[in-house]
Amino acid sequence: MTKTAELHIDGKVYELPVLEGTEGEKAIDISKLRAQTGHITLDIGFKNTGSTKSSITFLDGEQGILRHRGYSIEDLCDKADFLQVAHLLIYGEYPTGETYDKFKNTITYHTLVHEDMRKIFDGFPASAHPMGVLSSLVTSLTAFYPESLDPTTAPEGVDLTIVRLLAKLPTIAAWSYKNEMGHPLNYPNNNLDYVSNFLQMMFGLRTETYEINPIVRDALNKLLILHADHEQNCSAATVRVVGSSQASLYASVSAGINALWGRLHGGANQAVIEMLENIMEDGGDVEKYIAKAKDKNDPFRLMGFGHRVYKNFDPRARIIKKSCDEVLESLGINDPTLEIAKKLEEAALKDDYFVDRKLFPNVDFYSGIIYRAIGIPTEMFTVMFALGRLPGWIAQWKEMREEGQPIGRPRQLYVGENHRPL
Ligand code: CMC
Repeated sequence: MTKTAELHIDGKVYELPVLEGTEGEKAIDISKLRAQTGHITLDIGFKNTGSTKSSITFLDGEQGILRHRGYSIEDLCDKADFLQVAHLLIYGEYPTGETYDKFKNTITYHTLVHEDMRKIFDGFPASAHPMGVLSSLVTSLTAFYPESLDPTTAPEGVDLTIVRLLAKLPTIAAWSYKNEMGHPLNYPNNNLDYVSNFLQMMFGLRTETYEINPIVRDALNKLLILHADHEQNCSAATVRVVGSSQASLYASVSAGINALWGRLHGGANQAVIEMLENIMEDGGDVEKYIAKAKDKNDPFRLMGFGHRVYKNFDPRARIIKKSCDEVLESLGINDPTLEIAKKLEEAALKDDYFVDRKLFPNVDFYSGIIYRAIGIPTEMFTVMFALGRLPGWIAQWKEMREEGQPIGRPRQLYVGENHRPL
């Protein structure tokens, strides 16, 4: 029997269907609310609003659970390659054997970007933030592949766009770094795997063979997997809303990159390192910064702390913290910001303000420290997040399109002036 919830307004009773997800999550279906009652719901920041049903990622913020298509993030980080997770998210199945080889090969042979794109790179000043360059160039892909403009075309066309995006984003990302450095660009090397090829384009010199450090490669593989999807977050929701207007996948992903850029979302990883460096330069007084974060008259927030959905711990932070210790130890790096990070974490975890509000270190608290250890410059941190999140954005866009979801268009409660003569 279908469960219902009752809504009482002005003496009238309305019955609303109660839906249940496969993991027991419950939702009140209000899709006919306005037609039946003349009311809308108001939920600024969508704190209680489900915008879609989805089969991609399950997240339980109270218990710290994250699963993609049923597989735990712990298992995936332990056993999978990033491209396997990408296939899992986008196509629903974990690829092995021939399926995986075919997928890998297809991606490998689309890694080059059109030579004319270099002219666009040349137009950016060295001061350009790599996130701005990345989103501009992803939009520019529509100019080189105009057949992608209509996403309602045959699925093979969409599949080709998916492959091109996965293949070319590392090239564009590495080139945006080279542009910032004023260095010559490195071309993709199709003998290397996805992660190693990216490292080669970032750090290889044209004159010598680039030696891949397996510790660095594995850490980066894990980091990309940890960022691969996170259900209806700010950037994924953006990708779905933009895509719901039937904008192309390139345009939708470019919008997602811009949504990720802000410091409350993916930009937090850059903000964490900047915050740790500031605290260090200011004498390393962690208590002073804890007090600032608690002071409602001070705009300072502890970057890398808190999460909209995780109210216990962020399972990604747990994995990354371990990986961070391993990487620093095996590379023999003694990073003083890590000491500040540890002190900050200890102080916050026993402080009532943070305990009461369930504020724990999130994934961004540690990722910046690893990126730094493996030689990635601070301004590239959010680009690394974007590289990891790409399969998630694609999977969310594809699911939305395949289910024929309507254009995303919220309502509002108008609180402005009434009609007045001009
Ligand atoms: N430092 C100090 N106080 C905080 C922090 C923080 N980092 N985060 C939340 N609070 C307080 C906030 O002031 C509020 O207090 P009160 O109830 O007294 O008004 C309470 O905790 C709830 O915060 P909120 O802003 O209502 O929570 P939200 O769900 O809207 O925001 C958040 C979530 C992640 C934007 C926020 O915790 C934050 O700004 N964190 C720092 C930025 C950050 O690390 N972002 C990365 C998120 S993880 C990567 C990703 O998935 O994007």
